[in-house]
Amino acid sequence: MTEIRPKACIHLPLAEDVAARVDAVCEAHHLPFGAPREELLAALADVEGLLLSNQVYVDESVYDAGPRLRVVSGFGVGYDRFDIEEATRRGIAICNTPDVVTVPVVELTIGLILALSRRLFQNEAYPRSGGWARRERPPAPGFDLGGKTLGVIGFGRIGTELTRRVQAFGMRTVFNDLFQEPPADAPRSPYRPLDVLLGEADIVTLHVDLNPTSHHLIGARELGLMKPTAYLINTSRGPVVDQPALVAALREDKIAGAALDVLEEEPPDPDEPLVTLPNVLTFPHIGTATRETRRAMLELSVNNLLAVLQREPPPACVNPEVLG
Ligand code: 8YV
Repeated sequence: MTEIRPKACIHLPLAEDVAARVDAVCEAHHLPFGAPREELLAALADVEGLLLSNQVYVDESVYDAGPRLRVVSGFGVGYDRFDIEEATRRGIAICNTPDVVTVPVVELTIGLILALSRRLFQNEAYPRSGGWARRERPPAPGFDLGGKTLGVIGFGRIGTELTRRVQAFGMRTVFNDLFQEPPADAPRSPYRPLDVLLGEADIVTLHVDLNPTSHHLIGARELGLMKPTAYLINTSRGPVVDQPALVAALREDKIAGAALDVLEEEPPDPDEPLVTLPNVLTFPHIGTATRETRRAMLELSVNNLLAVLQREPPPACVNPEVLG
């Protein structure tokens, strides 16, 4: 008797070997990445599983369009664009890809710390623009990391691993989170109330997930508490920072500069002032953009999808209570 395979909508490009694994378990309908939302909704009528980027909004309109949905597997660790409460109410498992994204985001953050402290981009532009050849004044010197304080806001997987690694550079570290006692396996680093951390840090770095509590966590008041010589780094989610307030603070030299891998609107408006300010480095959300990490995220997100479709526990589930 031919086994009826569950139907799934695959809204991500799959490597051939991964696609073969998916086809062995379910009847896959491949929807091109970037297809219009109405095509996504129309593709969900009889599917039990959905695999897609965590940058796509998954809300009641998706759940209504997919009455047979049992699992939505996100490609990425963040789930701020997924309506978890409604999915749980409907018994739909929401899966994500934690852990595999930790080291690449930490490595990028360290790269941004070094880019800011040693003014790498200004110094790279100096010979490239002919300034060195014309013997023009070189960029101002940067600063040593040893002895400087890194203020880590968000002391989870990424915040703790970053702390562990920058301490090897001789940096002092402090953290802020909703808890004061760090996880048992975390590196030693003193807790600071947010306002105290902001006034103490030479570099403030954000590693929180986006939720109603962290939305605009850093606004005009918080930026005003930072030292005028301090820098802000954001590799978490753009809306954690009030972007117009950051533009004003940078224009008024309330802080020395910023390095951002995420923005409130991605991609930014063509006339977004932030990305052209002289004391800002901006990158197009590349925190996980390494070949190895993207492969690991793909494998994990597919493993999550196939596990639930086969009524097995997925490796990573945001709302495990639905797995009954
Ligand atoms: C993803 C991210 O690569 O994992 C996340 O939540 O923000 C990135 O690492 C990006 O969301 C694309 O899916």
